[in-house]
Amino acid sequence: MTDFAETTRLLFARPWVFLKGCVRVSDLPADDVIEIALAGRSNVGKSSLINALVGQHGLARTSNTPGRTQELNLFAPETGGIRLVDMPGYGFAKAPRPTVEKWTRLIHQFLRGRPNLRRVYVLVDARHGPKANDATVMNELDTAAVSYQVVLTKADKLREQDLAGVVKATEQFIAKRPAAHPEIILTSSEKGLGIDTLRAEIARLREGY
Ligand code: GTP
Ligand code: MG
Repeated sequence: MTDFAETTRLLFARPWVFLKGCVRVSDLPADDVIEIALAGRSNVGKSSLINALVGQHGLARTSNTPGRTQELNLFAPETGGIRLVDMPGYGFAKAPRPTVEKWTRLIHQFLRGRPNLRRVYVLVDARHGPKANDATVMNELDTAAVSYQVVLTKADKLREQDLAGVVKATEQFIAKRPAAHPEIILTSSEKGLGIDTLRAEIARLREGY
């Protein structure tokens, strides 16, 4: 195994812990550790992807009902050095309108204003492709110059022959976006697809390159 593969393995072999849930940005811990956030529409699979990455099912709470995650939930390996931020979803959620508006404000404040936010993974359901509210978030990240990358989720729900078309359409969607990483990552938390690729990227970001 190469040194870097071993670094990646060790990072995700460690137990990861839940640090804190924040309902407002003033609840966030000090910004002295890099953070990587998972954003996306309600029910796209953000919390499931965190569990798949850290290999601990049930660490982040998931649900069939959109609107499960209601705070900025921070996770970290026991030895620190990086945090993963599970975010409430935007768009449809089974929650009262003022509540959804509160989450939406929180999401936007965090994405725009967190100095230690190194990368945002914008999760998009592979069956549906990017939607208008994904574009709103991407516009905001472009304006704030926060680096982001699109992760297609639930690839297991598509037929094999349809996957390349979805990836291509998504590549075109982000082609002219200045802060978007040009590569799209295709994932399935259920089948483990793309998880090693994401782990290696996160380990690389933690190492500072
Ligand atoms: P909110 O917190 O409500 O915004 O949702 P979320 O984006 O965190 O989604 P969550 O991880 O809770 O998953 C939503 C539903 O999608 C759950 O029923 C998951 O089991 C399902 N799901 C997540 N990832 C996958 C996947 O890769 N494949 C399949 N088939 N289902 C998935
Ligand atoms: Mg969630």
